This record gives sequence, structure tokens and C-alpha cells, in this order.
Amino acid sequence: MKDLRKTIILCCAIMALALCSCSTNAQTEASSESTGGAEKSAEGVPASCLKELFYAAASVRESAMEEIEERVAEYEEQQKEPAVPTGSTAYGIPEPLDTLTSDNGNLLVLVNKQHAVSADYVPTDMVPVDGSLSTNQGLYFKREAYDAYLRMLEDAKNEGINFMICSTYRSYDTQVSIYHNYVATYGAEWANLRSAYPGRSEHHTGWAVDVTSKSMNYGLSQDFINYPEGQWINDHCSEYGFIVRYLKDKTDITGYAYEPWHLRYVGVEAAQEIMSQGLTLEEYLGKA
Ligand code: DAL
Ligand code: ZN
Repeated sequence: MKDLRKTIILCCAIMALALCSCSTNAQTEASSESTGGAEKSAEGVPASCLKELFYAAASVRESAMEEIEERVAEYEEQQKEPAVPTGSTAYGIPEPLDTLTSDNGNLLVLVNKQHAVSADYVPTDMVPVDGSLSTNQGLYFKREAYDAYLRMLEDAKNEGINFMICSTYRSYDTQVSIYHNYVATYGAEWANLRSAYPGRSEHHTGWAVDVTSKSMNYGLSQDFINYPEGQWINDHCSEYGFIVRYLKDKTDITGYAYEPWHLRYVGVEAAQEIMSQGLTLEEYLGKA
């Protein structure tokens, strides 16, 4: 927008110059008045000068408008969201083996780089998250997972541990925005280790939750595991049906770097088996 401001200032300067040159002409013509000089308008400004000023102003206005329109169009283009990807392979993500188009209620639904959900997939049975328990507002979470989360939080608080929800369900469009911002800032290789390509995020299923704490300044980082809250979650989440979904040293299976903050609800039975054996969901389902 700086350029646009410059253009407007430039146009004003040109207009001022046109006015100055015209008033100089007017003075010259006024001084030759006594010799029976130029024809004058009612205000005493020579008509030829008015005409000159009019044409100068019209041409400046026209070119200024063109330039302004051009700059505004440029600016609007820059402000647009990055384009929705035309093909995942362009970003180093394989074409999906399958794409789920609606929520069939399967608690163990597998969504990862190989198994997708469609852009219009919306989970059923979600409930709003209490805003006082989350750093971001207006969140929705699968009812069963949210109930389990609330039980977990209550028990943690009884032990002096507190944490906050950062993110739960994310729509396809939200994931487009997050993924593309990462790609634009850090490149696809970096992004693919940390952020799911749209349609491949567990957050899209409504079964995942990112958790943070005051000690983490409400941010998300691998350091979470070194804080009491992250440690407590790692040790106890399976009792409530959650797993730490992206384990350390399992990137070759999950496709993602370690995320001690990203929990996935799978129910108590599966969670306890998965966490006690240090498995990924892919391994548990025999789809590693
Ligand atoms: N950070 C995880 C992989 C996601 O974007 O769903
Ligand atoms: Zn997450």
C-alpha cells in the first residue's frame, strides 16, 4: 500500500505543478493586459489558461486513476490467500489411497498422509468447547472426546496440573490456511513434517486436540514434554482414551515430527494398548 500512497502523492504534485505553471502564465498574461493582451474569464483568469489547466488536470486524473487502479489490483492480489493446492503431489504428498466423504462414527478412523477425508467432510456429534478452557475461541470437539478431556482435566487439576486446549476440530479451509502459511514461510519440506496437507489432518475428524499450558506461554513445542503438564499428559492421557499421536522416533511411520501436544481420542481400551506398547495408530491398525 506504500506504493499506492506514493502514486497519490505524485499525482497531487503533478496537479500542483500544473496549477503553478498556469498561475505563472496568468501573471504573464495579466502584465501584458495593458497592451490589450489575452481574453479573460469572469474571475480574471485568462480563458486559455483555464483550458490548459482543465486539460492538464483531466490527463493527470486519467493516468493517475489508471495507475491507482493498477496498484489496488496488485495489492488485492497480494492479499489473497495462497491458492488451494491443485495436487498434493506438487507438495511431496502422495495421492490418497482412500478418501472418506462422511463421518461413519468409526472411533478408530485413520487419517494421515495416505488416508484422506474430503473437503466437505464434517464430523457429526460435535459440541462447543468452553471458551475458558481454550486459548482459541469458537472451537468444536467430538462430544465423546470432549467429555473424556474434561474428566482428564479435572483429575489433573486435583493434582495441581492445569492445561489449556489450543485447537480441536479444524475445517478443510482452516487447514488450507495453516498449511499454506507454513509452506509460504518455511517451504514444503519443513511444512510437511509439522502440518497436514488439507484433507489429511486428524483435526478434520474432530477427534484430535492440541494441548498447551501457561508454562509454555500457551505455545506448542516439543519442549512441552519437559514441563510437568506435558509429562502428566504423556503419563496419564491413555487412562482417558487419548494417545500421543506423533511419537518421537516414529516419523518414518507417522510422517510427522514428535508432537507431545497433539492428542488423539481412540477410546480407553485402544489408548492403553497403544501407549503402553509405544505404538502409533498406524501400527495398532496394521497399516504402518
Ligand atoms: N500437526 C498435525 C500433523 C496436523 O496438522 O494435523
Ligand atoms: Zn494437532
